[in-house]
Amino acid sequence: MIYLDNNATTPLDPAVAASISLELEKQHANAGSQHQAGRMARRTLESAREVIAKLFGLNCSDIHADHVVVTSGATEANNLALRGLLANKIGSCARVVISSQEHPSVDQCVEFLAAAGHSVVRVNSLSNGTIDLDHLESVVDGDTAAVSVIHANNETGIIQPLAQISEICRQAGAPLHTDAVQAVGKTEWDFQAIPVASATISAHKLHGPVGVGALLVRHGTDLYPQITGGFQQQGFRAGTESVFMAVALAKTLELCFGADAQGYRHALCALRDRFEAQITSDIPDVQVIGSDVSRVPHTSCLSFQGLDRQAIQMALDAADICCSTGSACASGSSEPSPTLISMGLSPEVIEGAVRFSFGRFNTVDEIDSACERISSVIKHLRR
Ligand SMILES: Cc1ncc(COP(=O)(O)O)c(C=O)c1O
Repeated sequence: MIYLDNNATTPLDPAVAASISLELEKQHANAGSQHQAGRMARRTLESAREVIAKLFGLNCSDIHADHVVVTSGATEANNLALRGLLANKIGSCARVVISSQEHPSVDQCVEFLAAAGHSVVRVNSLSNGTIDLDHLESVVDGDTAAVSVIHANNETGIIQPLAQISEICRQAGAPLHTDAVQAVGKTEWDFQAIPVASATISAHKLHGPVGVGALLVRHGTDLYPQITGGFQQQGFRAGTESVFMAVALAKTLELCFGADAQGYRHALCALRDRFEAQITSDIPDVQVIGSDVSRVPHTSCLSFQGLDRQAIQMALDAADICCSTGSACASGSSEPSPTLISMGLSPEVIEGAVRFSFGRFNTVDEIDSACERISSVIKHLRR
């Protein structure tokens, strides 16, 4: 089997698995307990948090410290960011602005906010897949309670111009949240260089475990907790902290931001370019979505014109290739992708679009073999 669905989830890195079992064996006490076992757990937890903060360039000083809120994953982090920014606007009709290509964990979250009486504006995409900055500028103002723009789209890999977006939001005085799940580790990502109020990350997209992620929160962001109870995580998220999950997240990020981070990105880029070059030379009428704009190096969204995406995915599955027809969180739905619709692509192009995504454990041999199999499957389906 060749696994080319790394945007849905990635295989666990054995080094992360080892760090998890080590921490589990230690049977940490509750990091909130005041006895020495609790203090030991607290130290392990805070060291993990510090590793995460430093890797992202968060300000760790006491007075203006940014926060790492460890969550159950990116879905929770996105919900915390948006609901948390809106929480003190109950009873008023606040405006929330999002792009038209958000992951369901943002898109469906704002549907909930709309049902609660807030107004939601979705900013148009340009045909190249980037956000329409003029439209954004025209809808964001001082009354905007939150703006959310995905940094790199999970279906196309297209990178949004976050620096320009954050400047528009800064000038309007509107807090900007970004879902950076698919951008982190695949681009140079620095919390200080990109002035967002908050950003979401998830371990399982980076060869870490499913079930842990974080919301990076800039100092001074007016964010209300969405899970209430004890005063864990400086009050941003109640509930006994999971020491081993925080350690796993830190280890995942350390490996990802390690000495050879740039080499890893180049390797991914080389795999993707090799893949796209072979597919487009072997198969006629293939469109590479987003080929003329900046994309993350691990995502290739290809449209095989005249074919149905579900039929392609099933036939490739039978040929032992794992790929996807869009966001795994929307799978099961046969609805066409809102991201591709927002780019104004024709129904035929959208109908034939399939996502291939690469990871640290994919090899050149796998790419070559996958290309041969894809070529033969597509030719067979077109016959
Ligand atoms: C861009 C993006 N945001 C959010 C998520 C949700 O992540 P998690 O599974 O950690 O909740 C995903 C994963 O599907 C994603 O690709």
